[in-house]
Amino acid sequence: HAADAFRTDLMTITRFVLNEQSKHPESRGDFSILLSHIVLGCKFVCAAVNKAGLAKLIGLAGETNVQGEEQKKLDVLSNEVFVKALVSSGRTCILVSEEDEDAIIVEPSKRGKYCVVFDPLDGSSNIDCGVSIGTIFGIYMIKDGGEPSLEDVLQPGKNMLAAGYCMYGSSCTLVLSTGSGVNGFTLDPSLGEFILTHPDIKIPKKGKIYSVNEGNAKNWDGPTAKYVEKCKFPTDGSSAKSLRYIGSMVADVHRTLLYGGVFLYPADKKSPNGKLRVLYEVFPMSFLMEQAGGQSFTGKERSLDLVPKKIHERSPIFLGSYDDVEEIKALYAAEE
Ligand code: AHG
Ligand code: MN
Ligand code: MN
Ligand code: MN
Repeated sequence: HAADAFRTDLMTITRFVLNEQSKHPESRGDFSILLSHIVLGCKFVCAAVNKAGLAKLIGLAGETNVQGEEQKKLDVLSNEVFVKALVSSGRTCILVSEEDEDAIIVEPSKRGKYCVVFDPLDGSSNIDCGVSIGTIFGIYMIKDGGEPSLEDVLQPGKNMLAAGYCMYGSSCTLVLSTGSGVNGFTLDPSLGEFILTHPDIKIPKKGKIYSVNEGNAKNWDGPTAKYVEKCKFPTDGSSAKSLRYIGSMVADVHRTLLYGGVFLYPADKKSPNGKLRVLYEVFPMSFLMEQAGGQSFTGKERSLDLVPKKIHERSPIFLGSYDDVEEIKALYAAEE
């Protein structure tokens, strides 16, 4: 009947998080307030990305960030939006953004107990050609009630309370974990609400896809080269894997989460720590992968066990289906 056309039990991300948080009465809604401000930032960036071509948001901003990358206009705009949204939430005390060289200490009158690390716009090289891009974030609790300091964000990823990403693609999808599983929400533009569309995401135990920038092959170390060779020329009679590489981590990880398989950004001779940043790329994606039944490995250890020394530190990363990452771990172990 008519009501079927309109789901009336709308599970919005706000309602979902409130339900989750009811399991943590001590949070007194602070986390839900923080999340609602992150969601606001995602809605804003989604609108800006969709209008980018029309709103002259394409192209360079004429600045270079601490990573030595030329900042795009959308990099700068989304960074400003998230910093303002997070500070105005009154629930954060220190922020780390890919686009800011130093950590941002929130002014005392607006401080809360959460520390947020984020990549405001991931996949910037894909902005000008309209390929999916995203935002990645991770949330820690301040270590002790004192003055916020770098100690509060130089924590291992396993200490994160929550992590997520928003992917700006054919639809705007927000994937979130607060430590008890992974759930996906899709923005309904007519409501301006993120609606639960992917409840309790679990990554397949094994996949048929590998995702890596083959252009770096000449600089890979032994185990990575061996693993990729195995994907292309399996020796156990299984069929070769497909290669899918979008070049936006959010899109490559989202596909890996839903379809299975493995995403690699390995170390190479030129960049011994790989390219991806520990705090706001490796940790949040590794947190989500583990929560979805997959795993994440740095080539040396479980990614979430890493203790970062610097806020823009990089690490190699191998993440995805549990069994696929086990094969990579075995190749690195054999190398030791
Ligand atoms: P960002 O745009 O936030 O700097 O991140 C880009 C990253 C990541 O999104 C992607 O996986 C990786 O760069 C792709 O790097 P290559 O172009 O070297 O493959
Ligand atoms: Mn960048
Ligand atoms: Mn990024
Ligand atoms: Mn970025």
